[in-house]
Amino acid sequence: MEQQHIDHFTSSFPEISYTTEEILQEYGHDETEDLSYPPHIVLKPSTPQEISNILKYCNQHGIPVTPAGARSGLSGGMLPINGGVLISMERFNNILEIDENNHQVTTEPGVITEVLQNTVKEKGLFYPPDPASKGSCFIGGNISENSGGPKAVKYGVTADYVLNLEVVLPNGEIIWTGANVLKNATGYNLTQLIVGSEGTLGIVTKIVLKLIPHPTKDLLMLVPFMKAEEACKAVAAIFKKGITPSGLEFMERDAIQWTIDKIPNIQLNVDDKYAAHLLIEVDGFDEEKLMQECEKISEVVDDFEIGEILFADSKAQKDKLWEVRRKVGEAVKAHSIYKEEDTVVPRYELPKLLKGVKSIEQKYGFKSVCYGHAGDGNLHVNIIKGELSDQQWNEELPKAIREIFELTVSLGGTISGEHGIGLVQKDYMDIPFTKMSLDLMKQIKAVFDPKGILNPGKIFN
Ligand code: LAC
Ligand code: ZN
Repeated sequence: MEQQHIDHFTSSFPEISYTTEEILQEYGHDETEDLSYPPHIVLKPSTPQEISNILKYCNQHGIPVTPAGARSGLSGGMLPINGGVLISMERFNNILEIDENNHQVTTEPGVITEVLQNTVKEKGLFYPPDPASKGSCFIGGNISENSGGPKAVKYGVTADYVLNLEVVLPNGEIIWTGANVLKNATGYNLTQLIVGSEGTLGIVTKIVLKLIPHPTKDLLMLVPFMKAEEACKAVAAIFKKGITPSGLEFMERDAIQWTIDKIPNIQLNVDDKYAAHLLIEVDGFDEEKLMQECEKISEVVDDFEIGEILFADSKAQKDKLWEVRRKVGEAVKAHSIYKEEDTVVPRYELPKLLKGVKSIEQKYGFKSVCYGHAGDGNLHVNIIKGELSDQQWNEELPKAIREIFELTVSLGGTISGEHGIGLVQKDYMDIPFTKMSLDLMKQIKAVFDPKGILNPGKIFN
């Protein structure tokens, strides 16, 4: 990016422009591996009009622009790989209106997801999508990546709650994509096109979300399995009994153990002999009904080789167990250089996916630690660098990942359930899509952004 353009921003928008080396480094990475691509300038606007002015200028001069949320993403969606302007959405941090009459909330995108959840909860309302990073991620980032999280298994993902979006297009025009209604059969669904588009089509500046009544009761159980594949088999069996848990999470031995080791003073021991655990939650409004559901779940898991089931008997214990689950990603990251894949298959195929991953792992001689949202068939496969040489890591790993993704797609699944494609998965897009489908996506991108200025080099080249 030429100095004259940097000067343009620092003189036209001095109060929102940041160019110190420290800030550029800070905004040059998210939580994806150890990748770092500092922008040339960071802008922190707070109104759609400011974003519109920035985009108009960048569009005119062909300057790359990358929007960023809380930078907690795992696919490198916000990495400004070509430098240029980074627009941080952190000042869009107001919840604008909670509409209790219609069970809706209108918010700006830089609100932390958990803050939004807690605010609507005070009115008895529930916004369920809750990625592991809910305490730091932004709702706008959740929209960009169509985030899921543990509750998705019963309540759906971000896309299922987005009714309407205000979006600034790359040419600076500001549009609303839909209407604040629960049904909408009016033309193409621009709202859902923006959801999951990873900041490549426009910059979201206002969001209207659907809410539901907040459940008042929940029960949580932790089930140890001798065999990891049996834990996966139990998943579909629970649904076949007519139960839809509000959380059904899978953690392999190392995933849970490494995380417990990282949490000080935790009163939870897991025995090494168990290959995997399922964390199972049911929620609703009637405790007795939930007890019956837990009994049925116990009957299902009893058909497998399991250890003693732990029923959380206090809010504190439930919180601890969820803390363990939410911190697995962090614990794996702290353990070794790793690469995280976000495979997803129809849930009945989960045992086959796990088995296949383990045999690909043996073939290539690496170690994987798997965990994830088993109820959704969404398995996070973490490949650990450990003792592997740099050469093995750089040359063999992409082949192994390709095999894992081919297996995933052959089982009826796809290569990302909730982390997005961003930068690090884009070389594998030929596995889930034909050239025709990819070309359609590229043409959509070109309609929104003919000059290709917005978040270039993401999803596809
Ligand atoms: C999780 C994140 C990594 O499930 O998606 O913990
Ligand atoms: Zn996840």
